[in-house]
Amino acid sequence: MTLTKDELKRIAAYKAVDFVKSNMVLGLGTGSTAKHAVDRIGELLRQGKLVNIVGIPTSKKTQEQALSLNIPLSDLDAHPVVDLSIDGADEVDPCLNLVKGRGGSLLREKMIEGASKKFVVIVDESKMVKHIGGSKMALPVEIVPFCWKFTAERLRRVMEGYGCEAKLRLGGEKGEAFVTDNGNYIVDMYLEKDMGDLRVVSDEILRLPGVVEHGMFLDMASTVIIAGELGVKIKNK
Ligand code: A5P
Repeated sequence: MTLTKDELKRIAAYKAVDFVKSNMVLGLGTGSTAKHAVDRIGELLRQGKLVNIVGIPTSKKTQEQALSLNIPLSDLDAHPVVDLSIDGADEVDPCLNLVKGRGGSLLREKMIEGASKKFVVIVDESKMVKHIGGSKMALPVEIVPFCWKFTAERLRRVMEGYGCEAKLRLGGEKGEAFVTDNGNYIVDMYLEKDMGDLRVVSDEILRLPGVVEHGMFLDMASTVIIAGELGVKIKNK
């Protein structure tokens, strides 16, 4: 029997929720895979199988979903240490480095998942790649709207060596720029080549004034749960 991609995402998400215990502070991810994990946490709370959970949502969308499921919510100001975060990813490399943010929530995700004692990533097998960013898929970079063309051009120049095309993400009904939950824009960097030393590229991007954050999550994942046709694989850091 062939499972759909959404069924694989749900399988990975439910497996990750096995790590959730009562009394935990949880980072709640964003995206079509993380949505299943949030639904499952809500269900276990409703059934009384989990108690005293505090969720920290990584986006306004996840916040709405969690509120609709009666998951108690908080933030990093009140809970600077998160026990466990569960979230999807757009790409995962063999060292468990990630690309995230194609759904636009990379900044809050990085803040919350970076404050987590354990970060469990949930993916279907199509997200596994040899090199992140080198698959002609976009690396998202969140930038301030002020003079965004200037920042996008500086970004393109920094990434030129990797065959980069930088495109402002559009999302509005009238073709206007997509605006993140933090009021910023996203530039998607389409790369032809593998980036080599990801730390070096990360530093170069973050050094540019106007850049808020990028979607490479280096050395952050503790565990990746990969659901595929042949079953579930768990990779630990
Ligand atoms: C949201 O900004 C993203 O980081 C998502 O977590 C990531 O894109 C994975 O999304 P899907 O589970 O929808 O593929």
